[in-house]
Amino acid sequence: MRAAQVSKLEGPEAIEVVEIPEPVSYPGGVVIDVHAAGVAFPDVLMTRGQYQMKPDVPFVVGGEVAGVVRSAPEDAHVRPGDRVIALTMLGNAVAEVAVTTPQMVFKLPDNISLEAGAGIVFNDLTVHFCLRNRGRLAEGETVLVHGAAGGVGTSTLRMARALGAGRVIAVVSTEEKAEVARANGATDVVLTEGWLAAVKELTEGRGVDIVLDPVGGDRFTDSIRSLAPAGRLLVVGFTAGEIPTVKVNRLLLRNVEVVGAAWGEWVLTHPGYLQEQWAEVEPLLASGKIAPPRPEIYPLEQTAAAVSSLDNRTAKGKVVVAVR
Ligand SMILES: NC(=O)c1ccc[n+]([C@@H]2O[C@H](COP(=O)([O-])OP(=O)(O)OC[C@H]3O[C@@H](n4cnc5c(N)ncnc54)[C@H](OP(=O)(O)O)[C@@H]3O)[C@@H](O)[C@H]2O)c1
Repeated sequence: MRAAQVSKLEGPEAIEVVEIPEPVSYPGGVVIDVHAAGVAFPDVLMTRGQYQMKPDVPFVVGGEVAGVVRSAPEDAHVRPGDRVIALTMLGNAVAEVAVTTPQMVFKLPDNISLEAGAGIVFNDLTVHFCLRNRGRLAEGETVLVHGAAGGVGTSTLRMARALGAGRVIAVVSTEEKAEVARANGATDVVLTEGWLAAVKELTEGRGVDIVLDPVGGDRFTDSIRSLAPAGRLLVVGFTAGEIPTVKVNRLLLRNVEVVGAAWGEWVLTHPGYLQEQWAEVEPLLASGKIAPPRPEIYPLEQTAAAVSSLDNRTAKGKVVVAVR
């Protein structure tokens, strides 16, 4: 089969499309003929050996697939021929065939294409975990998301109101990304430069109830300042590079929280959680209450460019590779 592989840890440009044997299934494995695969910021880090997961080289990039089931165990909830999306958690996705466990496989609603489907499960279930579980989003609350035109960012914009938010404020670095944020459902968009003052003005000084932060870096303290009383700042990632520190007196004085949100870690320690999440998210996608992603789609041969777009900050929305 053809696959996008990393054989040296020299960054996304070193990803090569190669011919390798199909993965061998195992008892209980679901084999999927992959049509499209999703890549995300962790792939950038993995191509340099900088992510917490460090697979031996060579490894295949990508964390999620959309395709058609080739074979599944008798007692699985999917059958051969079903259109599915699935997690490979992480690696082993941008390839013509993938194997994963039934709990990581989800039937794709008929109204969603396989290319859009390849952009759903990794980010949408992360955002669902962040807002529902860690952020305790209540009806009508205001959510702010940094890096709002990115993968996690656009998922937040697409999902937050369907999960109860009253208002979703996007923070982005450029006017072009502001357009992406609006197209994905932001109620308000502010530019990174001067974002705190703009948000204070938008909220008439009150601030926001939840900040979902996949970026980190030097805006972290301002994120705490942007919270309304009892607000929650969700620590999701550090695309800016720097891991921020927090002076806890700021939390005490303002009655606010900084909350870690590591979805992958939660999934590993909570069997059944993924399918519980899907039971809530699937009907919202199927009914259109959550719009499908609008991914940027690259052909398999350009996987290196696809992952590089996440590295050089030019990606707009979720990035998907069309495998066949
Ligand atoms: N905690 C979890 O469970 C979990 C799950 C999935 C992903 N994540 C993490 O979430 C983060 C976002 O992932 P993603 O796939 O959404 O990434 P993405 O699509 O690349 O979006 C990240 C955004 O970060 C902003 N950014 C700021 N400084 C940047 C820099 N130096 N380089 C690149 N981007 C920069 C960019 O927005 P602007 O240009 O508008 O600033 C960009 O759109 C990653 O750190 C990932 O590891 C965490």
